[in-house]
Amino acid sequence: MLPDQEVSNHRDTGQEKTVTCFAPAKINLALHVTGQHSDGYHELETLVVFCDIGDEIEIYHGSAPGSQPDGPRIDLANFGPYGETLPDPQDNIVYKAAMAFTQEFLTGEQSLTIRIEKNLPVASGIGGGSADAAATLLAVQDLFETRDEKRMAAIAANLGADVPMCLHSRALIARGRGEQIELLEEFPQLHMVLVNPGVCVSTPEVFGKLQGKQNPPLTPLPAKLTPDTLIRWLHQKRNDLAAPALALAPEIHDVLEALRSSDALLRRMSGSGATCFGIYPSFESAENAALQISQNQPGWWVKACKSRSFGKERKHNLR
Ligand code: C5P
Repeated sequence: MLPDQEVSNHRDTGQEKTVTCFAPAKINLALHVTGQHSDGYHELETLVVFCDIGDEIEIYHGSAPGSQPDGPRIDLANFGPYGETLPDPQDNIVYKAAMAFTQEFLTGEQSLTIRIEKNLPVASGIGGGSADAAATLLAVQDLFETRDEKRMAAIAANLGADVPMCLHSRALIARGRGEQIELLEEFPQLHMVLVNPGVCVSTPEVFGKLQGKQNPPLTPLPAKLTPDTLIRWLHQKRNDLAAPALALAPEIHDVLEALRSSDALLRRMSGSGATCFGIYPSFESAENAALQISQNQPGWWVKACKSRSFGKERKHNLR
């Protein structure tokens, strides 16, 4: 089931409507590469959680004076600390997501204005663009009141390997190219620090530098899942993209060292990097570690955060 708790309707005035959707940061707690397909894509097994920090997508649907004869009119506006680093509108995955949705589900003239609040560093292994694309799909799904999980999942997979998992934005294991999703119930909440040294890392380049493509898969999660059993389990797991990412961006080594000296229970790179995370026993200890790391490295992006849990919070809008 696709979530609907992320989306909040702000205004609805007949023809015009605005919807916002949170696009949480994605963390690969473990990422095992287990093979490669003939099309070059890799077979993965990854345990993923999502955080209470992220981007925000707001979509305004107006009456359609600006629609193009050959398709919808989609305008993008970027804001936030990383708003200026986004590609040209037509190359932006948010634009592609909105276009794919309108082509699949809508007829007639449409005019969408999409505001992207870009809080997460781009090309950084925490899902930013994929999370934004998924949030865009959830927002337009809500705007136009469509419910077709199968077609949405297909659109998401077509946009990128990480977009299907970002449609769910909760603890899960993804397999295949990333599109086979197993949702995890009752996953422990984690207190984390995310650290990015300010270098962009290209995902295709990292996969391209990966030496061993046939690595052992994940083992089953502990039967009784607590923060302790999870951390012990994670210590036996890997991010197989860490070695090629480190070869491309040696700064990742400094980030992992900074996390090590902050007493993280576990430290690891997320996705294809360069963002790394540390897991801490409490949010207070995560905040202290974040403070210490940013004092030592004022140029780095450093955030303390919690993973999203879905007990009572499930109905909350936004983070
Ligand atoms: O699907 P997406 O565009 O996000 O993937 C970016 C790049 O990452 C792909 O072009 C491919 O080089 C690599 N990739 C891969 N195997 C995956 C996912 C991504 O090789 N399962």
